[in-house]
Amino acid sequence: MNELFNQGSDIEIVDFKEILSGKSKAKKYYLKTNKGVEMLTKITPTTNAKALTTRLENKRQRAEAIAESGVPLSRLIKIEPFGKNTVAHFYEWCKGQTVYHLLKNGELTEDEAYDLGARTGEFLRQIHSIPLRSEEWDTGLDEEVEVYNQIKKRLDNSYDKYRELRHKLPVIECLLPFFKDKGVEFLRGRKLCYAHRDYHSGNIMYDVKSKQIGLIDYSFKPGDAISDLAYVYDSTKHGGLFHPYAKGQVDGYLALLKKDAEHSNDATILLKTLREDFVFFFAAKILTLFTKNHDNGTLTQKKLESVKSIQIRVLKWLDNYFGLDDFEFTEEILEAVRK
Ligand SMILES: Nc1ncnc2c1ncn2[C@@H]1O[C@H](COP(=O)(O)OP(=O)(O)O)[C@@H](O)[C@H]1O
Ligand SMILES: [Mg+2]
Repeated sequence: MNELFNQGSDIEIVDFKEILSGKSKAKKYYLKTNKGVEMLTKITPTTNAKALTTRLENKRQRAEAIAESGVPLSRLIKIEPFGKNTVAHFYEWCKGQTVYHLLKNGELTEDEAYDLGARTGEFLRQIHSIPLRSEEWDTGLDEEVEVYNQIKKRLDNSYDKYRELRHKLPVIECLLPFFKDKGVEFLRGRKLCYAHRDYHSGNIMYDVKSKQIGLIDYSFKPGDAISDLAYVYDSTKHGGLFHPYAKGQVDGYLALLKKDAEHSNDATILLKTLREDFVFFFAAKILTLFTKNHDNGTLTQKKLESVKSIQIRVLKWLDNYFGLDDFEFTEEILEAVRK
């Protein structure tokens, strides 16, 4: 690790520890140098270290632009190819715990969870309102097509997978005609923005003592704003403190977007169809997350019950926030949601 990090300088690693949480294949380590600097290192396996280094360098530049606008994120400090098949990347260490951990373990009050959500919602809107750099504008059209295709492909695949599953779920049966009617056509020609692309509570650090927030595990590639906001789905799956947190996040986002709309045409356009678009992406998440986790075609009874109760929790939150009028849910589903 030392040889990887210091490259001939007088900086030494005096402490390091593997971090086992997180979803990606990358190995992650906490590091501390003899100068007292703490860092998070990711070591990512790749078949093309050069291409990955370039991608990370581009990401570093996007993150710098966003950090400069005042969004508190863990900056990418250093990128170091490590042999032919791995690249190490070093990030600023964020104090505290993931928001997921704090909400799950009830370490905040309901009001604190809401306020924290509101701040993370404002930061997300702040990211979305930063104009794309000229390099990104130049490829703007390609990116639009790419984002459209990506979202469409994911949704189409989920449709197909769902049909192969032996179990038909009432909530999804009611959602399918809605997707057919609406589709993702509305995304064509839509303006893109820097998008986090994985804005769930496990990717936000929070230090209760200093109230400092730190965004991690970002991409900031051009993407769709409301698709990014709909990551709040992940919080609504869990009930408890996650629900006020999720409400705060959307409230915070909307409050700032409304302010932006006073002087920005883009924000006005976004605001006009926000509710409708949010509901669409939320429903898409219900479908894709379900099929993604059950691609072997069968489900145990226990798993099935757990999936059903997650769907009810998600819909309860959506019903409270935006209502469920867009869908033709059966009386039975509405009763379960509103019980
Ligand atoms: N900059 C950081 N400061 C402190 N802890 C971090 C930092 N980045 C990641 N972590 C810790 O490591 C875990 C996994 O990191 P993450 O970047 O989310 O990786 P993955 O892509 O595997 O999800 C996080 O949940 C968090 O606990
Ligand atoms: Mg993560």
